Amino acid sequence: MNTEIIPPSSQGAARAGEILRAGGLVAIPTETVYGLAANALDPAAVKKIYEAKGRPSDNPLIVHISSVEQWPELVRGKIPENARKLAEAFWPGPLTVILEKSGIIPSVTSGGLDTVAVRCPAHPLARAVIEAAGVPLAAPSANLSGRPSPTTFSHTLEDLQGRVDAVMDGGDCGVGVESTVISLAGGRVRLLRPGGVTKEALEQVAGPVELDPAVTAMLAPGERAASPGMKYKHYAPRAEVVILDGSPEAFAQYVNAQGPGADVLCFSETEPLLAVPALCLGSRYDGAEQARRLFWALHRLDQIGARRVLAQRPNRRGIGLAVYNRLLRAAAFRIEKLPGPPWIVGLVGPSGAGKSTVAKEMGRLGFSLVDCDRLTRSAEVYNQECLAALGRAFGEEVIPGGVLDRRELARRAFRDEASKKLLEEITFPTIERAVRRALEQMEGPVLLDAPTLFESGLDVLCARILTVTAPEDLRLRRVMARDGLTEEQARQRFRAQKPAEFYEARGDFVIEGTGDNSGRLEEAAQELKGR
Ligand code: TXA
Ligand code: MG
Repeated sequence: MNTEIIPPSSQGAARAGEILRAGGLVAIPTETVYGLAANALDPAAVKKIYEAKGRPSDNPLIVHISSVEQWPELVRGKIPENARKLAEAFWPGPLTVILEKSGIIPSVTSGGLDTVAVRCPAHPLARAVIEAAGVPLAAPSANLSGRPSPTTFSHTLEDLQGRVDAVMDGGDCGVGVESTVISLAGGRVRLLRPGGVTKEALEQVAGPVELDPAVTAMLAPGERAASPGMKYKHYAPRAEVVILDGSPEAFAQYVNAQGPGADVLCFSETEPLLAVPALCLGSRYDGAEQARRLFWALHRLDQIGARRVLAQRPNRRGIGLAVYNRLLRAAAFRIEKLPGPPWIVGLVGPSGAGKSTVAKEMGRLGFSLVDCDRLTRSAEVYNQECLAALGRAFGEEVIPGGVLDRRELARRAFRDEASKKLLEEITFPTIERAVRRALEQMEGPVLLDAPTLFESGLDVLCARILTVTAPEDLRLRRVMARDGLTEEQARQRFRAQKPAEFYEARGDFVIEGTGDNSGRLEEAAQELKGR
């Protein structure tokens, strides 16, 4: 079959619409990944999708619409209130909603199920094509079954050239992982596949969301998948992928000891620690960047002929859950805890969030504590050499009679960014030495309470990050009472620190340090110890 290349223009959309109306197959860009589209209401056209992809016929397709008005005729009965609310909040966008299907959805489209998955994509070209076709479009990801989803025109062509009528060249996809799939068929909101819309964002609109067990674990033999697509090994490059769970430092040590032979998929913060070349997924703390690059990276591993890939485990919060879910399937569920150093969880959060209370609770739940603030006050950190350097940098007034005047040092070091940097340059290396020495005595799991965890680079020691946060007014009142500050002084201290969102974005688990954490702490301890 000769595959036509369609340009990304309104004429292109019209041409795609023409082919689709005539029962043909066109691969089109969406904001998540490329999709292989056909008229969702035409069984013969839909059947061709399964043939072109080599897709098992029991794996249902998502039906794409360009406006909410097209939704009611696809589903049975009235669209429930929470479905409407979710669509209003997230459409057009990367959310797919499953409801009971109406009679116009052919059985091939729904893979024999009595439900239908519907999504209204945000990509302008996808929308233009749906409008030009004048019918809802069934569109799975435009890859051969089992392969990584395509997020670029060239990856789409690589899989489908000669197998479909046309491919539209729409550049790179912005989100990079497929849509979030939720089912409302049973009344509750159940997350079947994590994606561009996070669980946390769904919960803000629709209340508690149940996570289908297949999202983070392999189904037991014979267990029925709520989402048929989740039961298959998936998204897989040709290489064998193994996910390694542990701190960046433990990962680097392990990989470096392996020598050449394995290829490495890591986060950008880890790359400088590696003695071997690696593919970078983006920052450890930026799930959106990882999502955008994941399928590109899996394709790249094929291009370089990778046979065995060692990959770092992504944070499972936010869009990270989607990255984790895809990588786990690419690895056929092979995930291993790294051997070696104690399992360290970094404890962070803005001032007054309630970190020390949470630290005490975690101590009761099996964590040993290392308190960097206490260490930092010790003579081990403020040794003669360090004091002399501080005197030279900030004036002898900070060490009257050779003894540290903390208040004076704080006054001088926190007055501007440059002074703060200078203080950090002097103290971080000796703090790091002290922390490492303290950790040598311990067995895991350890909670490392370090106010400047990221600034000092101690986060390379952490397998997980626990963020404690609280509303600003509460933090303000706490800091004023605790340290005897005026409101203005407390606000000034907040301004000198990283904002709360900085810590929230980095946490593998975020807990409110507001006092009432019934249940959440046990959940945190469980999650943060790793499996
Ligand atoms: O972002 C996306 O959703 C992309 C773009 C092209 O829109 N499409 C996509 O389709 O990822 P596909 O077919 O690769 O994945 C659809 C997933 C599968 O896991 C399938 O089993 C599930 O959605 N699914 C579809 N209809 C379902 C239904 N009625 N019940 C349960 N799961 C369903
Ligand atoms: Mg797919």
